[in-house]
Amino acid sequence: MKFPEYRPRRLRRTENLRRMIRETSLSVDDLVYPLFAIYGKGVKKPVESMPGIFNLSADLLVEEAGRAAELKIPAVLVFGIPETKDAVGSGAYDDEGVVQQAVRAIKKNYPDLLVITDVCLCEYTDHGHCGLIEGEAVQNDPTLDLLARTALSHVKAGADMVAPSDMMDGRVAAIRERLDREGYQDVPVMAYSVKYASAFYGPFREAAGSAPRFGDRRAYQMDPPNAMEAVREAALDIGEGADVIMVKPALAYMDIIRLIKENFDYPLAAYNVSGEYAMVKAAAEKGWIDERRVVMEALTGMKRAGADIIITYHALDAARWIGEGY
Ligand code: PBG
Repeated sequence: MKFPEYRPRRLRRTENLRRMIRETSLSVDDLVYPLFAIYGKGVKKPVESMPGIFNLSADLLVEEAGRAAELKIPAVLVFGIPETKDAVGSGAYDDEGVVQQAVRAIKKNYPDLLVITDVCLCEYTDHGHCGLIEGEAVQNDPTLDLLARTALSHVKAGADMVAPSDMMDGRVAAIRERLDREGYQDVPVMAYSVKYASAFYGPFREAAGSAPRFGDRRAYQMDPPNAMEAVREAALDIGEGADVIMVKPALAYMDIIRLIKENFDYPLAAYNVSGEYAMVKAAAEKGWIDERRVVMEALTGMKRAGADIIITYHALDAARWIGEGY
């Protein structure tokens, strides 16, 4: 295979030729749309660093979920911003908590739309860490019961899938056991298995009010330079019963998405996180990039890297653009 016998440009001449040999195509089926639930009625609070994204009270959140359903997006991922926080994150496992109410409202109006809930304590603790603390150290084992309680409470409210994002060791097993014991053996767990201690979560922490009051999350989230550790993390979660595994963030970790896909024959999600969204939005606002083309290129890249599921704040736009043949 060499020039001039082989000329790669022959297959690039026209759009139909390119379509015919295209290796990756993004589908609405791949998308998950994150939503931020807040208390109240008629509340629509913009997230400054994420243009187009809002904290929504249940009534408006249902409308936004309806937009996703209308566009045939299969699932939403719900986060909660509680009214009050405390040291043990009790808002997370309160059956009348903000996520629980939002889930009930969505399922009532859109029973077919899959509702996935983020299971973590950081939005609910006054110190902003993902687990219980003693001094400045996040306690692993005592946190597990609270995470299991949170997951159970979400599922009782109607969640179709739970997604633990806290990065405590053993949480998938703790959640799986609790759900099974309570008769919810059919509810899958999507584990944030490979979640890095990333600077790309900045805007999310504004959206969810979950920035840690002291320290950072490096003692529980993964160290960004590591790749083989990601394989161990994914293996652990699969061993504990995870049904879907996740790599997060996406853009700076495309190699990890590919590595995990090649090592595990499991459905794989990639999380196109808040900072990735914010960068695109900011550059687009300045007129420096073509937002539509950049978003579709990035999401297609995640799919090409090996993601089966893409969690993205661009989901509504992306679904529309896919519908128009992007
Ligand atoms: C909660 C959680 C975070 C994200 C998802 N779940 C933030 C964090 O770990 O600090 C980040 C999502 C995003 O940046 O879009 N633990």
